[in-house]
Amino acid sequence: MKIKPEQLRSHRWFGRESMRTYNHRSRMAQLGVAESDYRGKPVIAIVNTWSEINPCHQHFRTRAEEVKRGVWQAGGFPLEMPAMSIAEIFQKPSPLMYRNFLAMETEELLRSYPADGAVLMGGCDKTTPGLAMGATSMGLPFIFMPAGPMLKGHASGATLGSGTDMFKGWSELRAGTIDQQHWEDLLLGIARSPGTCMTMGTAATMMSAMEALGLTLPGASSIPAPDSGHARMATATGKRIVDMVWEDLRPSRILTNDAFDNAVTCVLALGGSTNALVHLIAMARRAGCSLDLDRFDALARETPLIANIRPAGKHLMEDFHYAGGLRGMLERIRGRLRLDALTVNGATLGENIAGARVFDDDVILPLDAPLVANGSLAVLRGNLAPDGAVIKPAAADARLHRHRGKAIVFESYAALSQGIDDPALEVDEDSVLVLQNAGPLGGPGMPEWGQLPIPKKLLQRGVRDMLRISDCRMSGTSFGACVLHVAPESYIGGPLALVKTGDEIEIDIPARRLTLHVAEDELARRRAAWTPPPPRYTRGYGAIFQQNVTQANEGCDFAVLAARDAVPDPDIY
Ligand code: FES
Repeated sequence: MKIKPEQLRSHRWFGRESMRTYNHRSRMAQLGVAESDYRGKPVIAIVNTWSEINPCHQHFRTRAEEVKRGVWQAGGFPLEMPAMSIAEIFQKPSPLMYRNFLAMETEELLRSYPADGAVLMGGCDKTTPGLAMGATSMGLPFIFMPAGPMLKGHASGATLGSGTDMFKGWSELRAGTIDQQHWEDLLLGIARSPGTCMTMGTAATMMSAMEALGLTLPGASSIPAPDSGHARMATATGKRIVDMVWEDLRPSRILTNDAFDNAVTCVLALGGSTNALVHLIAMARRAGCSLDLDRFDALARETPLIANIRPAGKHLMEDFHYAGGLRGMLERIRGRLRLDALTVNGATLGENIAGARVFDDDVILPLDAPLVANGSLAVLRGNLAPDGAVIKPAAADARLHRHRGKAIVFESYAALSQGIDDPALEVDEDSVLVLQNAGPLGGPGMPEWGQLPIPKKLLQRGVRDMLRISDCRMSGTSFGACVLHVAPESYIGGPLALVKTGDEIEIDIPARRLTLHVAEDELARRRAAWTPPPPRYTRGYGAIFQQNVTQANEGCDFAVLAARDAVPDPDIY
């Protein structure tokens, strides 16, 4: 033990003799807790993002009890602390807008209460980075308990992936190849148990990244939420955090540049969501690490995509777990990982994955037969995106990897919705659909609109992919030739704001270029004529978000939260 009981942070609340600590102990008695239950023991905050509005976390009430069981067994004292549940499907205008809110809430919960360590319970998309960012800034020992994926979807004899098969079904309904009844049948079978999306969406991507970072117990991230192994993992997580407090195993020892390289390599081998760029950059900055878009691109050039999971592949997270899970996949790419990186169980990543087996080579592909040999993700730059943009080449039609076409510009998602199926729209499969004002400030919060719908008349002619460009994000469950996260965004006058219908745009993925073919003097004229839109918010959280949020290439954190200055523990008088 590195830490003695009187060195516990909670000792300041409970251990000293003063009128104030007397008051704290009297209120613990009011809670029905004996002094011997908590005094001199690690107090573990269980930060629980359960909410009745969040279907992906509906098992968290039970799991919190299982985490507490582990904390008690290991000699700690658990306190469950609810935090905002960011339910990806329901929260508007965009769940990303609330990631920083959850990060602030997590950090301040841990700072303002007598916590010695924390178990973070999350999984539905933005909850994972939000919890991790806040806890990293606070700096106490913490461990992440991933929600785990839901079971595979089933309807009408087909296996369904959340998100992915809804997007496909919607296109087919609009093309007239499936009927309304088929569409309604999908609705009841596409999400049929507790747990997160079971495609390689943002949830699975970020839960896996947390394991690769060393922030979960080994093998935790892919256990299906309803599996009894998930409950056992929750209890083991509760046990482990108590020892982490005594060992003083803080995130500053785990979150290194090597750990972030491991997370990025893991995401690339999984064919993970492009949301990971925004979140991992934000998380790295909180930890004082140097991750940026260029590092993503460099690692992408050498990392094979070997997880055969939708939307890039054909299986789902439940299959991935049975095939060996993340440990199996990481063992397969062992040679590309920084094996000495420390993890929450006190062992290195290399030790945690040693000997892990793959049981199904069609789900976790051999290195000599990857889904994509390298470049599953590419960072583009050019006069249209000076600070970068991203595309998943593996999810795009190969004919669009090098392409030049005429832009059709929509100034807002409302304009897009209204105009995209207009029979008079002059569009063909070579056109480039452009959406403006959908970035961090414009969306706001970069809503997942990036998979812009293909015009109905083209769908009916069999077209299923087109080049699409925007400054918003795309669901990890989406697919297509979609250039995303264009920075700087159009709402603040980035070059995307200057594009007009009829302009020619060229993409060259192998050269990592995105070019607007408009003469510089014409662009200068358009820039001079551009006027900034009025602020969306004049009060409330929206105004705080607006004043502080950074651009996509910087992780969309609040500059004031990303700062690394130490915040003192509260005085207790
Ligand atoms: Fe919760 Fe997809 S909606 S993880």
